[in-house]
This record gives sequence, structure tokens and C-alpha cells, in this order.
Amino acid sequence: MDDIVLSGIRSTGKLHLGNYLGALKNFVAMQHEHRCYFFIADYHSLTTHPNPADLHSSVRQVLAEYLAAGLDPDRCTLYVQSDVPETVELYLLLNMNAYKGELERCTSFKDKVRQNPDNVNAGLLTYPTLMAADILIHRATKIPVGKDQEQHLEMTRTFANRFNRIYGVDYFTEPKAFAFTQKLVKIPGLDGSGKMGKSEGNAIYLTDTPEAIRKKVMKALTDSGPTQPNQPKPEYIQNLFTIMEAVSPPDTVKHFDDLYNSCQIRYGNMKKQLAEDIVALTAPMRERIDAIMADTDYLHRVAAQGAEKARASAAKTIAEVREIIGFRPM
Ligand code: TRP
Repeated sequence: MDDIVLSGIRSTGKLHLGNYLGALKNFVAMQHEHRCYFFIADYHSLTTHPNPADLHSSVRQVLAEYLAAGLDPDRCTLYVQSDVPETVELYLLLNMNAYKGELERCTSFKDKVRQNPDNVNAGLLTYPTLMAADILIHRATKIPVGKDQEQHLEMTRTFANRFNRIYGVDYFTEPKAFAFTQKLVKIPGLDGSGKMGKSEGNAIYLTDTPEAIRKKVMKALTDSGPTQPNQPKPEYIQNLFTIMEAVSPPDTVKHFDDLYNSCQIRYGNMKKQLAEDIVALTAPMRERIDAIMADTDYLHRVAAQGAEKARASAAKTIAEVREIIGFRPM
């Protein structure tokens, strides 16, 4: 229980089934076993210059969706990053010892430069220092993130160790990647290959209506079925089974697997069943999202409660860091 678990949540985009069955289900489980901080990374989102109304509505949406999916503000500290400006002070302090060369070598930075050569701003370059500040502000030790964030985590360790070395202290602990306890299922898209993603345009959202879900599932790529028994499944068929394994009871999966192996499968029936099982999983969440979105008082209370808890922890770190650095009363 000593470990402090922390993760940032991208503030853009609605949650899809892959997000829910991946990280989010794990966050929900972790809040019962660890001291957890989860925050919506809205400072980070400024690198792409969202307009104020969009910024606000996406943060609100993400907060509502995480609450609807089961994060409990009494069990974890759930906050909006920009409600904790202490983060920014630590970011500034860390930036003094973050070098242009190492920031430029970061893979995520190089990708962004390639994608948007006209918007290579300093916030993008220093994204890893802001992320390090997010983590070190609570002196978090376990960071449940995917492979794409490993380099950022490594940089956080570099900055933490560098701070300790420069000031001759043993203040920051190295944060470690935290393996998910629940099996991490990679949810594929419905378009035959690859994973489910917003940018891939193949996602089923928690806010999709049952009709929209049925339509998307029925459109998934299939073929006329195997002609030989017990053949390996082509990727686009395996994908349907993978999604089914994540949302349907094992008997259902076995039923269609048996039909596949005996060349009797009718993919239309399988997709109908899959759609109904996805609807059964997401419909209650969708109702809760709607109810929470309509309850501004509740959202306000949750954010205020999260900010209060997060700021208490952050203020303590900042006071100690200031003292270490030499910002002392005259
Ligand atoms: N960079 C993370 C992402 O893109 C989000 C994030 C921001 C984060 N700050 C963090 C994750 C701190 C873990 C810890 O998904």
C-alpha cells in the first residue's frame, strides 16, 4: 500500500472499447489495491492548440467517462492536471536540467515533428519534462502505461536521478512501469487488421448507441467461411474472435469456434451475437455517462475534491524541492 500509482489520461477523444478493456479496467481494479492518482492531462493537450470551448468539453467528457467506467473519487485521487499548478512549477525547475539534445532524440517528439512540421513548439519538445513533473510531483513509484510511454518513463528516471545528483540528495525515487494485473487484451479494429483506435476510424465508442454498435459490427470484414475443417483463422476473422473473447461468455466463444472448425459458421449470426454482447457491456456505461454529463454539480464536486487532494500532495513536494534548490526565506 506504500506504492503510489499514477497515470495521466489523454484529454482528447472519447473512450472506445479498446481503451476500456485495456488500461481503464486495470485502473478500476488498482484503486482498490494501491494509493492511486489519475489525472486528465489537459496541459499536455495544449501542444495542439485546441480552442477553449473544445478543451473544456473534452475534459468534461473524459472525466464523465472515467467516472462512469468505475473510477471512484473516494478511492483514488482523480483530478484535472491544470487544477494543480504546482505541476507547472516543477516542470519549470526540471526544464533547467533537461537538455535539448536528449529531448530532441525522443521518439514521440521526432514522430510529431514528422507529422506536423509547422508546429514544432517548445511544449512539444518538453512534453517529457511535463510528464516527469506529473509523476514526480506526487513522488509516484508505479506508472501503469503502455509500451509507447516507456521512453518517457525512462526520461523521468533520468531527470529524477539528475536532480538527486546535482543537489546531493536522495529525494526522488525512480518510477517504474507497472504491469497490469488484469490481462491486457489488445482489442483489434473491425476493419480486418491492426488495433482499435480513434485515428484508425474503426472504433466502437462507449457512447455509441446500440444501433450504431450493431451497424459497425455487422460491417466488419468476413468471408464465406472455411472450406476445410480446423483451419487457422485469417487475421480479420481472428479479430472478431478476439473481441468476442473479451466481451462474451466463454460458452459463446466456444460455440462459434466449434462452428468455425466444422465449417458451419455463419458470420452474420456471429456478428449479431457479438453486437448484442458489446451492447450489454457498454449500455449501462453509456447511461451513466449521460447522467453524469447532465450533473454539472457532481462533476464540479469531483474535480474540486480531486484538486484538493492532489494539491496537498503537490504542495508538499514543491515546498521540499524549493528548499533543496535554495529558494529559502530571507
Ligand atoms: N503521455 C501519456 C499518454 O500520452 C499521458 C500522460 C501524461 C501520462 N502525463 C503522464 C501518463 C504521467 C503517465 C504518467 O498517454
